[in-house]
Amino acid sequence: MGIKGNRIHIAHCLVTLCVAFSLLVGCNGTGNLVTGDVAATQSSFRDKHVGVCIYELNDSFMSLFTNELIRYLVSEGFSKENIKVYGGSNNEAVQLSQVKALVDERVDALVINPVNASVAHTITELATGNSIPVVYINREPTGDEEDKWEEYNLKATYVGCDARQSGIYQGELVLGIGMDKLDRNRDGILQYYMIEGAPENIDAGFRTVYSVSTIKNAGIEMECLLDEVGNWEEKKAKLITDKGLEQGLIPEVIICNNDAMALGAIKALQDNNLVPGKDVFVVGVDALPEALDKIKEGTLVGTVFNDYIRQSHEAADVMINYLQGKDNEHYVACNYVKVTKDNADAILNEIDNKKQK
Ligand code: GAL
Repeated sequence: MGIKGNRIHIAHCLVTLCVAFSLLVGCNGTGNLVTGDVAATQSSFRDKHVGVCIYELNDSFMSLFTNELIRYLVSEGFSKENIKVYGGSNNEAVQLSQVKALVDERVDALVINPVNASVAHTITELATGNSIPVVYINREPTGDEEDKWEEYNLKATYVGCDARQSGIYQGELVLGIGMDKLDRNRDGILQYYMIEGAPENIDAGFRTVYSVSTIKNAGIEMECLLDEVGNWEEKKAKLITDKGLEQGLIPEVIICNNDAMALGAIKALQDNNLVPGKDVFVVGVDALPEALDKIKEGTLVGTVFNDYIRQSHEAADVMINYLQGKDNEHYVACNYVKVTKDNADAILNEIDNKKQK
């Protein structure tokens, strides 16, 4: 029996066991065993109201994150109707009014992907001042803000990764190609485009700085031909790359702060008769499903897995702890994973497996 066959066999056994035990202890819709106590807790989540505020719902990565968060909360016993999701249209005032409305409605907990780090201060005051726990995701509030949570023992936590690591991994992915292949014009210098996510965004800032410094620290001279903000969007990154190429700026590498923009850069290269993965090497971050396909076909050199499954589950678990009157760390960290052709399938499997939980 192959790996897949084994998995199906084990799954069948678990389902059978679950059905048998459900008569005694209960079995939830996901096939997980639910003991008497857990079943009681889960049913108490059914009436809990959760507000989720995302900086921008059209963001490819955040939409994966949000869907997984909802799926996981429902599997933990929350009712879908009681999870209210708002997109903030990347506008601080819009997001604040959404949070105010949720606080006025007396939701039981908030999950916030802040439009910017500075808005967190007001959101924390609004939420914790009304005894509503708040879990920040993806965009880390400032250090001062986090110190305050610690000092006053506020029910506030940030769940996310350290973007420096993703920048370093991007640099290592480029180094892994080797100067022989990278330096197409044989001038001993690496010409590159940098396509940044958003101004003043911590992920964008760290990825930009650390990807380049990692390459330079390996003794490679670099020349930046273009450095522009692509708003984390495929379309914008395509326009930027098209424009650069029209101006005759031919890069050897395109470093994108995320995969959506890397996909845009790849399209632009192809439209301009350049072969990504041969003439120009593109790297991203996130491990979007489309990006993993591009890695497998060789047009994207690599990406960095921004583990939205683990992060969304951790965020939900932290929130559940708060709802149960338990304490949490104020900072819950998560690791990035470097992805190339060698482990793209393994990452896809890991994503599938984690989604079962
Ligand atoms: C990053 C992610 C980007 C974008 C951004 C929004 O962590 O890599 O794709 O979603 O967050 O802040």
